[in-house]
Amino acid sequence: MINGDIIKKRILIIGSNGMLGQRLVEFFRNNDKIELLCASVENDSLIPEINYKQLDITQKNKVREIILEFFPDFVINTAAYTNVDKSETEKEIAWKINVNGPEYIAHYCNTIDTHLIHISTDYIYDGKEGPYTEEDKPCPIGYYGRTKLASENSIRTSGTRFTILRTNVLYGPTKYGRADFVKWVITSLRSNQIIRIVTDQIGNPTYIDDIVSAINKVIELKKEGIFNIGGIEMLSRFDFTLRIAKYFSLDESLIHPIFTKELKQQAARPLKSGLITLKAETELGYKPYSIETSFELMKKELNL
Ligand SMILES: NC(=O)c1ccc[n+]([C@@H]2O[C@H](COP(=O)([O-])OP(=O)(O)OC[C@H]3O[C@@H](n4cnc5c(N)ncnc54)[C@H](OP(=O)(O)O)[C@@H]3O)[C@@H](O)[C@H]2O)c1
Repeated sequence: MINGDIIKKRILIIGSNGMLGQRLVEFFRNNDKIELLCASVENDSLIPEINYKQLDITQKNKVREIILEFFPDFVINTAAYTNVDKSETEKEIAWKINVNGPEYIAHYCNTIDTHLIHISTDYIYDGKEGPYTEEDKPCPIGYYGRTKLASENSIRTSGTRFTILRTNVLYGPTKYGRADFVKWVITSLRSNQIIRIVTDQIGNPTYIDDIVSAINKVIELKKEGIFNIGGIEMLSRFDFTLRIAKYFSLDESLIHPIFTKELKQQAARPLKSGLITLKAETELGYKPYSIETSFELMKKELNL
């Protein structure tokens, strides 16, 4: 008789306390065909009652231990140093987490022939001629983007089977940790705060559950390579904010337009960006929700 456990897929989610990580955990945790192990840098999991281990991906021995012990079929790495501005001054730690960490993960995935799914970003581009396809030549303009591009390159040359999903401006119904852009806008406008939003950053904001579905498809189809994952519409951050205000019946007059350069942020931002998702649509059957449907789902789930 076949033991059910033998045919279970073993999935390790690294960065499980993060915004995307949490949604992946919620998606995979109740699937009885999957054996799940979650890991992140904090001592405890934010999501209760899951199989969790503390892991700092900058410690090569720990990465080795967790991967070789659990022996996963798939590793999904969502752990990253994601503070774009602080990356300009905290270069060493940003490099360790965003480049050395994925390098170690890829190394041990290769050792045991595990498929690595890694998350990257449109910040690997300069934002001069977006939206971008997977074939466009990267040219990061900030240190965060440089580290993320270097992580892609170290995975591509590691020898392991890999899928890199590039995404931009994640939002969605995560329950723990910092608020995403949509929740931040709702909270600010409901408390009558004026918010200054850039009109010159263009992208296609990505509903987190759409990238979760894409990851699930990658696993189902064992698809390798690089895929862009983004929302259905290209629009400025300002227009996206207006759509939030309209949908949630908030005061649009509190949203003030501003240019990126006026914010005087430490890191430069790609302006004309966004990710063309045709390859994912064709090869993964990727079909993102419309912006309004994604808001409706968030509203229902979070009681917004
Ligand atoms: N959010 C976006 O708009 C966006 C856009 C494009 C691409 N991405 C990419 O998508 C991925 C997921 O992003 P996200 O928004 O979910 O990020 P996030 O919320 O910042 O989650 C990253 C997680 O990794 C953890 N982590 C940090 N250092 C670690 C270490 N040394 N070892 C293990 N875990 C560590 C973080 O813990 P702490 O919070 O305690 O540091 C956090 O729980 C990242 O690769 C990011 O670059 C995100």
